[in-house]
Amino acid sequence: MNRESSSSPDSVEFRYRKCAEQLASRGQDHVLRWWDDLGAPQREHLLSEIDSIPWSHLDPLVETHVCNRPQDQVLTDLEPAVVFPHQRHADDAALYRDAVVLGDELIRAGKVAAFTVAGGQGTRLGFEGPKGAVTITPVREKTLFQLFAETIVAVRKRYGVAIRWYIMTNPGNHRQTVGFLEDRDFFGLPSQDVVLFSQGMLPSFDLEGKILLEDKHRLALAPDGHGGSLKSLVASGALQEMASLGIEIISYFQVDNPLVKPFDPLFIGLHAKTGSEMSAKVASKVDDLERVGNVCMHEGRVVVIEYSDFPDDLAHAKGSDGSRMFDVGNLAIHLLNVGFVDRIIARKFELPYRRAEKTVTWVDENGFQRTPRAPNAIKLETFVFDALPLAKNPLLLEIDRAEEFSPVKNAKGVDSVESAIRDQIRRAAHWLEGARVSVPRKPDGEPDVIIEIAPSYARNADDVRRRVTRPPELYSGETIYIS
Ligand code: UD1
Repeated sequence: MNRESSSSPDSVEFRYRKCAEQLASRGQDHVLRWWDDLGAPQREHLLSEIDSIPWSHLDPLVETHVCNRPQDQVLTDLEPAVVFPHQRHADDAALYRDAVVLGDELIRAGKVAAFTVAGGQGTRLGFEGPKGAVTITPVREKTLFQLFAETIVAVRKRYGVAIRWYIMTNPGNHRQTVGFLEDRDFFGLPSQDVVLFSQGMLPSFDLEGKILLEDKHRLALAPDGHGGSLKSLVASGALQEMASLGIEIISYFQVDNPLVKPFDPLFIGLHAKTGSEMSAKVASKVDDLERVGNVCMHEGRVVVIEYSDFPDDLAHAKGSDGSRMFDVGNLAIHLLNVGFVDRIIARKFELPYRRAEKTVTWVDENGFQRTPRAPNAIKLETFVFDALPLAKNPLLLEIDRAEEFSPVKNAKGVDSVESAIRDQIRRAAHWLEGARVSVPRKPDGEPDVIIEIAPSYARNADDVRRRVTRPPELYSGETIYIS
C-alpha cells in the first residue's frame, strides 16, 4: 500500500513546513496566514506559486528596489543618439547595398528566427484574451497572430528555408494562446516550427516590502516584464535549441505592431556587418511627449529612457536649428545575437530591475479583498531594451514609421485598432501607387478604398512593383483584398 507520509518530501505537510521556514526567514510568512481556511487544491496552488518565486533574484531587491527607490533608475547627462539614417546619404549607398545582400544570405541560410513577445496583460486595450487574437486587418479581419504567421510563411517560401517562430506568453494566457494557434493549424506553419513558452512571474509587494496576496490562496503575481523574455528563452531551452539549429540572430518584436517587418534584409545585414550584438529600429518622435522610449547616449552607451521617466526639459529641448534634440523613439523592434543573450542572461542575468508603483487588488489582514484607487503596490520588471547598454556596437536604424510601426495599445484613438487599420490601408495605397496604380483619394487625402495586401502577395513596395504588371483600375469606395 502506498501512503504519503507527512515526512515525505512530496507531501503537502512537508512542503508547507519547508515553505513556512523559508518565508519566515524572509519576513514573508504572512502569505500562509489563511492556510487553515484553504482546501487541498488551494493549498497546492499556493505552495506551487511560492515555489515558483526566483528568490535568489528577489532577495536583494526588496531592500534596494521595494523599500527604497533604486538610485540608478533615473540617469542624468544624457546626449542625443546617433542613428543610421533612413534617407541614405550617397556615402552610405554601397554599405546599404552590401548589407541587403548579406541580410538576404543570412535569412536564406536559416540564421534568423522570429521572436514575438506576447506576455503583456493588454490592460489598456481592454481585450479579453491574448492580444495576438485581436482582429486587425482591414478586409479579411485577420488577427495579429495570423498576420505574423502568414508573413513567416511568405518568408519561408521566398527564401526556401524553414524558419522558427518563438512566441513568449505569460502563465495567464499561455494555454489560450496555444489553443488559439492549434485550433487554426498554426496558420499554415509546421507546428514543430512554432515554439511557445511562458515568461516568469514576480510577486507584487506593499510599500513595506511585504508580498501581497490577491486571494487567500493566491499571491498577487505579475509578468516579470519583456526583459523576462530573454530569461525565459534560456529557461525554456529555446536559446540552446537555436544554437543547435545554427540560428544566430533573434528578430524580436512585440505582438502589438501589425506593420512590423521581422525579416528585413537591410536591418539584418547592417546588424551583422557592423558587428552589433543588439540593434534597434527607431523613428523620429511624432511629438515631444510621444509615449515611446527615448533612445539616448549615456557615458558612451546606448540607453533607452521610458517616456514616463524622461525629464520634461529634455523632452522639450531644442537644438540650435530649432529641431527636437531628443528625437529618437524606440519602436521595440530588435535584433539580438544568440551568443549575446547567452552572455548577458544564461551566464549571469545582467538586466537591471525596474520599480513601478501600481494599483493591485489585495486581501487585507481581515481577509477582505480590496481594490484601492491609488497605487498601493510595487512591481518589479526588467526591460529588453536595458540590454542595449550591454551590447557591443549597438546599431540604431531609423525607419519610416508609416512603413513599419503602428502599435495597438488603446481601445480608442491614438495607437488603437482603428489607427492600425487606417495605417495598413495607407501603406497598401502607397505601395500600389509605387507600382503606378491610381488609388482614389478623399478630399482630405486619405485613400477612398479599403485595401488589404496579403503577406503572400507582397511584404513591401518592391514586391508590389514586381508583381503588378498591368495596373488595375480602383474605384472609390471599393473594398479590395490582394492575395
Ligand atoms: C513599449 C516600450 C517603449 C516602446 C513602445 C513601442 C516598454 C516599457 N516600453 O511601451 O519603449 O517605445 O513599446 O510600442 O516596454 N510584454 C510581455 N511581458 C511583459 C510585459 C510586456 O511580453 O511582462 C510585451 C507585451 O505583450 C507587448 C510589449 O511587451 O507586446 C510592450 O509592452 P507594453 O507594456 O505595452 O509597453 P508600452 O508601454 O506600450
